[in-house]
Amino acid sequence: MQSAEFSLENIRKDFPILKRTVRDNKPLVYLDNASTTQKPNQVIDAITDYYRNHNANIHRAVYALAEESTEAYESARDKIANFINVKNRQEIIFVRGTTEAINLVAYAWGRSQINEGDIIVTTEYEHHSNIVPWQLLTQEKRAKLEYIGMNDDGQLILDDLDKYLKTGKVKLVAFSLVSNVLGTITDAEKIIAKCKAAGVPTLIDGAQAVPHMKVDLDTLGCDFFAFSGHKMLAPTGIGVLWVRKSVLQTMNPFHGGGDMIREVHKYETTWNDLPYKFEAGTPNIADVIGFGAAIDYLTKIGMDNVRQHEIELTKYAIEEFAKIPGLKIYGTNDITKRGGVISFNFADVHPHDVAQIIDQEGIALRSGHHCAQVLMERLNVSATSRVSFYIYNTKKDVDALINSLKIVAKVFKL
Ligand code: ALA
Repeated sequence: MQSAEFSLENIRKDFPILKRTVRDNKPLVYLDNASTTQKPNQVIDAITDYYRNHNANIHRAVYALAEESTEAYESARDKIANFINVKNRQEIIFVRGTTEAINLVAYAWGRSQINEGDIIVTTEYEHHSNIVPWQLLTQEKRAKLEYIGMNDDGQLILDDLDKYLKTGKVKLVAFSLVSNVLGTITDAEKIIAKCKAAGVPTLIDGAQAVPHMKVDLDTLGCDFFAFSGHKMLAPTGIGVLWVRKSVLQTMNPFHGGGDMIREVHKYETTWNDLPYKFEAGTPNIADVIGFGAAIDYLTKIGMDNVRQHEIELTKYAIEEFAKIPGLKIYGTNDITKRGGVISFNFADVHPHDVAQIIDQEGIALRSGHHCAQVLMERLNVSATSRVSFYIYNTKKDVDALINSLKIVAKVFKL
């Protein structure tokens, strides 16, 4: 049970889009939150208030609007640092999202740290954003990319990690904290402990974790951590890269330009302090401020309540799915080991057909490879259907989904 701050009814009132109907006047049932979440009035208002009343560039001028804008931008950085328990705000770098964060690490850290013959390890259930940057880097450096395998229950096989670490050649282990397809919650503590014992840094893709559960970077002990705002009520185009300061100090800049410099001369430049060295050009000020409002919103609800709500919905959905003949769920049924994401296939109906039929009932879910084609190969499928929950979803949403799947069964005579 959630505590008093968690009122589903009140939460739903904050999201104007949830009042919409779609297709044939069907109430919208939005179940694609792993892709992006809807935005509450508080976030939308923070962005419009910025543009209506405070718009000015930051860090550059001394007039009133510029001060207000800088203050709002920097206070969002503080809110985010507190939210993930980072003590040093200099370690919070604003980027466009998880993809840019990981590319930044591959470029600004990887290009000076990875050499021929080195190994980067990732996992079979990564999103493309935690695979492709490492492919580009290892190809450029004649290094190797290796994968921690996954068992049929959607859990990583950590013996694979031990095997790679034993070679003494591993320079980075990169993994997601929660799989965007299976919902598996990775045993990060175990992986980080093994890597630390071997002196190997770790990078975590937290895109599917930070929006859904308490994440404490101070105790986690990784070296790089990335997540996106838009999957946690904030606007698109804004995310965070956190890097441990001792590592950040060894890194080259990513983009060159305004604000990331201290002094520029004809042939040389010195760098600004952290984190500004990594925030070149005019940043996405309005969306950083919107991100701050999203953090306020989630903080008020409480991340334990968010997690509890998703556990209840996921448990209910898994139980209801089990009653539908021919419906196969991927990943574990152990609710303590998974987040609010459920991927499934329904007999041999293509997921795009499932999505199209249930869309007529107002239900939005994602079908396809979910930017995880390595995982699709491992599961031996080309695609899945995926439902993913957030704070505003209800058991009624699950019931609507189940009813729409019955229509699919009828259409395909299952
Ligand atoms: N990463 C997003 C998803 O899993 C887009 O759908």
